[in-house]
This record gives sequence, C-alpha cells and structure tokens, in this order.
Amino acid sequence: MIDVFGLALPFLRLLDAEDAHHATIAALKLLPARQPPKNDPRLAVSVFGLDFPNPVGLAAGFDKNAEVADAMLGFGFGFVEVGTLTPRPQPGNARPRAFRLMEDRGVINRYGFNNDGHALAMARLSACHCEERSDEAIQSSHRGPGLLRCTRNDGIVGMNIGANKDSTDRVADYVSGVKAFADVASYYTINISSPNTPGLRDLQEPEALSDLLARVIEARDAAPARRPLLLKIAPDLSLAQLDGVVRVARARRIDGMIVSNTTISRPATLRSSLAKETGGLSGAPLFDLSTAMLAQTYLRVEGQFPLIGVGGIDSADAAWRKIEAGATLVQLYSALVYEGPGLVERIKRGLVLRLEQENISLAALVGRKAAAFAARPPSG
Ligand code: FNR
Repeated sequence: MIDVFGLALPFLRLLDAEDAHHATIAALKLLPARQPPKNDPRLAVSVFGLDFPNPVGLAAGFDKNAEVADAMLGFGFGFVEVGTLTPRPQPGNARPRAFRLMEDRGVINRYGFNNDGHALAMARLSACHCEERSDEAIQSSHRGPGLLRCTRNDGIVGMNIGANKDSTDRVADYVSGVKAFADVASYYTINISSPNTPGLRDLQEPEALSDLLARVIEARDAAPARRPLLLKIAPDLSLAQLDGVVRVARARRIDGMIVSNTTISRPATLRSSLAKETGGLSGAPLFDLSTAMLAQTYLRVEGQFPLIGVGGIDSADAAWRKIEAGATLVQLYSALVYEGPGLVERIKRGLVLRLEQENISLAALVGRKAAAFAARPPSG
C-alpha cells in the first residue's frame, strides 16, 4: 500500500507544527478506513484483562478529541489512547504552542489540554459504536458535522482523562471522566503529569494521589464493567517522589502505570534553537530519561502490575530497549512527525525479526535489563 502520509511529510513540515497536525487529522478523517494489517502472533500481549494484538500503541495527545482512533488502528497500532479530555471544552494556551526540534528529532508542546470536552468526544465514540451495530436510526441521529465515520470498533481504545485548568475540584474532573467514558473505554489513563496545566503535577504527591485514586477507583467500581485504570507519570520526579507514587499506586491496587509524559528538563545535548521554548519535551531527546524512570519504576513495582513505556521510541531497537527496561507495552507519538505512520509496521517487523534471532518471547524480554537501565541516573 502507498504510504500517503509518508509522502506528505516534507509538505507537512512546511507548515507550523500545529497546522500540520490539524491537516493530518483532517486527512485521516477523509480517507477511507484501512483494514489493520495482520499481526504476527508472537507480538500478542494479554494484560489488564485485554488482548493486545501487538504491543505498540499510539500515545495520548495525537487524537485528543476521539476523531481518528480507528484510522490509527488501521496503521497497525495495537492500541490507541485518546485524549487528554477534560469535562468542559477548553482552548488551551496561546499559539504558537507546538515546536519541532528538527535537529534533535524532538518536539516541545505547551498545548495546555486544548480539547472538545467529554460530551463531544463521547458523541463521536458512541457514533462509532452505533455504526458498528448497523442500526440505521441511531446512526443517522448521531451523524453530523465532525462526527467520526468508522466501520469497525474492535480495537483497544484507552481514554486519557484530565482536569480543566480553571476547575475548583480537580479530583471531581477525573471522577467525571471515568463516569463519562464507562461505556467506551477499553482502559482509563489518569493523566497527572502534563507540565502545561499549572499545579497538575502536584497530584503526584502521595496524599493528593491517594485521595485521587480512592475517588476514581470508587467511580470505576460503581460502573457495570470493570475497566483497567492506569496512572501516567512525569519523567521529572525525583527517585524519592517516585517511591511515594509507586507506594500509593500499589496500595490502591491500580492496574498499571505509563512512564512517561514529556519532560520540562532540557538535555545539554539539544542543538535546536527552539530548545528554549517553554513546555514538555518529547521524542528522541526524552528516550534516556524516560527509560531510566521506567526501569526505576519497574524495580519498585516488583511485578505487581504491568507498565507501558513511552518516550523517544523511533525504531524497533528503541522499542526493544524499552521492553528490556520494564515495559510490557510501548507507546509513541513524536516519532510519527519524523517517520510517518509506516514506522509502526517497521517497528513490529523489527521486533519479530529480533525475537526470532534471539529465540526469545516478548514476555521473557520484559524488564530483563531493568537494573542496567535504572543505573543510568535520570538527567535534568
Ligand atoms: C503529548 N503528550 C500528551 N500526553 C498526555 O497524557 N496527554 C496529552 O494530551 C498529551 N499531549 C501531547 C501533545 C503533543 C504534541 C506531544 C508531542 C505529546 C505526551 C505523549 O503522550 C507522550 O507521553 C510523550 O510525547 C512521549 O512520547 P514520544 O512522543 O517521545 O513518543
């Protein structure tokens, strides 16, 4: 199949980073749905009570508004994380707020949870379900400008939820997210690690986190279907703070953690003149820090729940190292900007090849080099 998006990359790069993203989402909504490519059975992973066809997921932030989850599954992702969504729509920070660090293969963003809010995202995802059921009456009532056109909904779609910037009760916003998406979420991600909503990362402090998780889990358990609940953390925590987060996460018996979000640190190796922009850094320059944090988390979790490793994955080798550091599943976003969506299949092919060469299973790979990766101290 022709990689239309790969071919379009040089043109998209002529646009401002946010405009390029909007153009990509618009194109994805217009193109006919692709059938997801077949997955090698050696890539299948069963965790959180879910059967992932492969371990490579799309990280949150690409499909903030639940518009293109099925289109992205069509590129071969094993799962897609939608969001971050807040209860009420909000515009986010002033533009420009997204920057490509071309020389560093990185991205800096300070979007600040710009999103359409729970209700519109839910309408899009419900429209998807309706179409799948071929119920003409419900379909036509849900069709309208901006609604998702999809033909299948059998992939794993996680819902990443957050709090409105001006909220007076942020915990209530997360509870509201769990309730809003109970019918459509394969899993929930509690995002308390975006650097672009002032004060949000304070929810990573043990007392606040314990209260947050207690209230969110109560809401989750009240719903008819039990959805896995994951916590997404920042790579900028000190190891003492990480101790506290993992202690609370284990005590509250969450289902997993995602390590990590973007970093507010700036590695000394950055070459781009845009490196001084405020916001969260992602992509290749985040790999070492996020992988060290992943390994540190893996060692503290002691197998009590699985981890999703994210940050700087741009090749099969990078995905392989994330898994060795402790990830059962991986996610990526920034590398799509540089490599296009064909990267997903390249990573999967590369993983299968290496599993064959080393005659090992994915499960046996998870965390086998955690101690070595943890020994590289998080910089910044
Ligand atoms: C993000 N990321 C993000 N994460 C999240 O939990 N909610 C969000 O809304 C966003 N938004 C967002 C926008 C942009 C433009 C980028 C580049 C990233 C963080 C993302 O999910 C991931 O954790 C990091 O980007 C690290 O992975 P990569 O990009 O290095 O593969």
